[in-house]
Formats: sequence, C-alpha cells, structure tokens
Amino acid sequence: MNPVLSLPSGAMTPASERLSRPLDSIDIPHKKVSKICCIGAGYVGGPTCAVIAYKCPDIIVTIVDLNQARIDAWNSDNLPIYEPGLDDVVKSVRGKNLFFSTDVDTAIKEADLIFVSVNTPTKKSGVGKGFAADLGYVESATRHIAKVAESDKIVVEKSTVPCRTAQSMRKILESNGKPGARFDILSNPEFLAEGTAIRDLFAPDRVLIGSLDTVYGRAAAASLADVYANWVPRKQVITMNLWSSELSKLAANALLAQRISSINALSAICEATGADVDEVSYAVGLDSRIGPKFLKASVGFGGSCFQKDILNLVYLSESLHLPDVAEYWRQVVEMNESQKRRFTQHIISSLFNTLTGKRLAVLGFAFKKDTGDTRESAAITLIKYFRQEQAKIAIYDPKVEESQIWYDLAEPGVVDDLTALKKQVTITSSAYEAAQGADAVVICTEWDEFRDTKLDYEKIYATMNKPAFIFDGRLILNQKKLEKIGFKVECIGRSRLEESFE
Ligand code: UDX
Ligand code: UDX
Repeated sequence: MNPVLSLPSGAMTPASERLSRPLDSIDIPHKKVSKICCIGAGYVGGPTCAVIAYKCPDIIVTIVDLNQARIDAWNSDNLPIYEPGLDDVVKSVRGKNLFFSTDVDTAIKEADLIFVSVNTPTKKSGVGKGFAADLGYVESATRHIAKVAESDKIVVEKSTVPCRTAQSMRKILESNGKPGARFDILSNPEFLAEGTAIRDLFAPDRVLIGSLDTVYGRAAAASLADVYANWVPRKQVITMNLWSSELSKLAANALLAQRISSINALSAICEATGADVDEVSYAVGLDSRIGPKFLKASVGFGGSCFQKDILNLVYLSESLHLPDVAEYWRQVVEMNESQKRRFTQHIISSLFNTLTGKRLAVLGFAFKKDTGDTRESAAITLIKYFRQEQAKIAIYDPKVEESQIWYDLAEPGVVDDLTALKKQVTITSSAYEAAQGADAVVICTEWDEFRDTKLDYEKIYATMNKPAFIFDGRLILNQKKLEKIGFKVECIGRSRLEESFE
C-alpha cells in the first residue's frame, strides 16, 4: 500500500483542526460584545479596529491614544498612516460606529472588551537592553484599565509581547481593580503585514485567540470569536492556550525572518559561484514542503517586528537558560546585518575601492514597498555606511516624508549632526533628480515605480557619470536590458561570472 495513504488520519488533518480547541469548547454562555475600546492608535490598533468597526456595524469601536496629534490625524482627511484601502474603510464608518479620541477613561469605562495595542519597542537601557521588549507601555495601559474600569472587562493583548505577559497583566489588574470588576485576559496577536494590512484583516489566514482553559477564559474567547465571526469563517478562528498564542506570534515572525536570512545566506554563495539566487529560490520554492513565499533575497529585512521579535525570543531563551537556542535565533539577525555590510562592501569595491565624493542615488527609503514606514529599514544602515565612506547621497522615496528621513538619519543626540548630514545628503522629489550626476543608483526598496518597465533608464543613464552603475538590492530589474543601455549592473545573489565550463 502507498505509505502516504496508510498514514493515520490525524497526520493528514490540518493542524488547525487537530490542535485548536474544538469549536464546542467555546460553545458556552458568554457575553455579547457591544462596545470595544482600543488603546493605541498605531499601525496595528488603527487598521485592526477600523476593520472591526467596518465589519461589525452593531459594535461601537473607540480607538484612543495619548498622542493628541495622532488622534487629530485619524479624525482628518490625512490619516497618520498610509495603507492601501484604509482611507475607504475609515471614511465609511468614522462618526457612525468608529471613533478616535484621547478620552481614554470614558472609552475604558464604556467598553466590554479592550484591545491593548500600544507599542512594545526593544529596551534601550537596563536589564535586557537591546533585546528584551520594553513592556512599560503595556504595563501603564493595564494599570490605567485597572484604575478606571467599573465593570467586567475582557482585556486583549494585541501588542506583541513575550510569553507569559498575560500573567503579569492579570496580577496588575487583580491587585489594582475595583471590587466586583472582573478581568479576563486574552491573547489575540496580529499577523497583518504593512502595505497589505487591510487585505490581511479582511481575509486572514487565521485568527488566533489564546485564553485560560477555564469557564471564564473560554467564555471570554467565545465573546471575541463572535466579533471575528462577523466576517471570518468560524473554522479559521483558532482558540488555544494563552502561552501558545503569545509564543505563536513571536514564532511566526522568527520563522519568516529566518527564511529571508537563509535565502540571503545563499545569495552570498550565489555571488561567489555563478548561481542565480532568484533561480535557486524558484527551484526550491516549487517543493510544496518549502513553498515560494518569503524567499526573495534582499538587502536585508526591516520593519518594526522581525528584528524586535527575534531579539525578544533571544532574550526569552537566555532567561530560560537555553543559550544554544538563543544563539540560533541571534544568528538570523546577525545574517541580516551581514547582508547589509556585504552589499556595501560590494558597492565600494565595484566603484574602484572608494566612495569619497561620489554621488550615490538611493532609490527607496521605506523598509518595503507600499508603505511610508521606515522602522529598521535597510536603507538607514546602508546610508550610514555610505556616509562613513564620505559619499554624497541623494535619496528618493515615493512615500516617506522628508522630515522622517532626516529624523532617521540624524542619529538623535548628536548635537550638530544635522548640519553635517545636510552637507552629505540631499532628498529629491524624483528618481531622475536623484540619479542626476550620480556614479551609481542603489535600489533599496522594491517600489514598482523603480522597475525598468516604469522608469526611463535611458534617460537616467544619460545624466549619470560613466561608468554608470546600478546596484539592485531587491532584484527588481532586468539586468540584460539595462546592460544593453550601458549600465554596469550588480545584483544581490547574482555574479557577473559568465556561465562557462572553463
Ligand atoms: C504594534 C504592536 O502593538 C507592537 O507590539 C508590535 O510589535 C508592532 O506593532 P504599532 O501599532 O506599530 O505597535 O505601534 P505604534 O504605531 O507606535 O502605535 C502605538 C500607539 O500607542 C502610539 O500611537 C502611542 O501614542 C500609543 N500609546 C502608547 C498610548 O496611547 N498609550 C500608551 O500608554 C502608550
Ligand atoms: C511582518 C509579518 O509579515 C507580519 O505577519 C507581522 O504581523 C508583522 O511583521 P511586515 O514587517 O509589515 O510584516 O512586513 P513583511 O512583508 O513581513 O516584510 C518584512 C521585511 O522582510 C521587509 O523589509 C521586506 O522587504 C523583507 N522581505 C520580505 C524580504 O527581504 N524578502 C522576502 O521574501 C519577504
């Protein structure tokens, strides 16, 4: 008999059906949620709760934030974050069942369910500096809930937090809450990616809800599951143990980032051997066990989550006395840093071993396309290296605000750095302007408008110093086509070695 057909049926059942608590575990009496408060109007809280309001017309959703300017922006025509589709969602429900406010107390008092979506940056000082998540904002939001709440609340961790944070939240709530007010804590991590947030929220692969396996815990999970059931099929709403849910968020990001570091490690071998990393990733991605996603070699991953969450995992492993595990995950971040150094080194050696006084046109500053977010963007590190080499840098990004670029490059704390910076760096309003008089174009972000089908590279070539180089850190260009124009093209994961058996 075919060994595959003889596998026990459990092995063939999707993990969701085997490991999620059965649907009837939350088929118990539970409260219907009619008012939601979200603390934190950021990249996660804003879009997530706007979509909840959009999909659940019967629920009143109030998103609160301490930052008045941010709330004002959410209430204006110019939303504080750029996400395709977000404007339409917000505009269709704002003022009806979606509200943005700085009145945190009223929103907490009135809500049945509270999402905690405040930021959890990597600690900058003290124990765990550089690795551990700073839970200060989560703690202060939790204390605030305890102080203000007068009735039972379901408190939901939306922020990414280390495993067992729910325990600390519970202690704070129970020891500070008003008598008679009961708090049930859920973990409901967010898996949306920037640039596709609305799509991810409308059609999530899964919704994960972690709760204690008690009657109260499961009833709270049932209340939240009902909210999502307004648009997500029931079987995609997965319920499980709180700690598994918390860890799954870190695990998902760590595994995704690990794939990128793995393909980037292979890109170095490709450059040294004549293999082409795009071909390698295509070939391995056809294996259904591996799959094609997150195998695009690049100048390095960025974004607010990957590095932070892996460092978090490293710290967690160290605190659990698992140094080998910590070292394993640390290496994913180290490979990412090494990719940026290697790319820079390649640019220096191609440009005849010096960048002094040369003009580099940096195309793209966001950490990926279709977002104005620059957190941990590879471009920031690359520009820092180019500056150390005394290059002149011209930056163009279609979405990132000029003030944000200055902020990211200014290294806060260095008093007169902005003056020095502006002598070396200019920000331009088009790719053509950036490339004018440049020795090299460096593609840092994979914006569609940088593709050779969109930009007129003949025009760019005509205005550049010769030899004119292009360094494609995102593998978005047709190398042969550009070489025909006259460019010297260098791509991540592709060597200039001709295919030859000599
Ligand atoms: C989210 C998650 O919450 C974080 O854990 C995850 O790892 C990354 O994504 P994000 O939404 O990107 O964070 O953060 P940010 O855009 O900085 O928004 C957080 C908001 O919370 C800010 O607007 C901040 O003003 C607000 N905040 C913070 C409060 O309203 N109260 C506080 O006590 C702290
Ligand atoms: C990520 C996770 O995908 C999301 O589930 C989680 O909730 C938050 O963190 P995000 O940071 O928005 O989302 O972006 P993502 O699309 O995952 O990209 C992260 C970085 O990896 C970007 O810099 C991107 O350019 C890079 N990347 C991605 C690659 O270099 N190669 C790839 O194949 C994929």
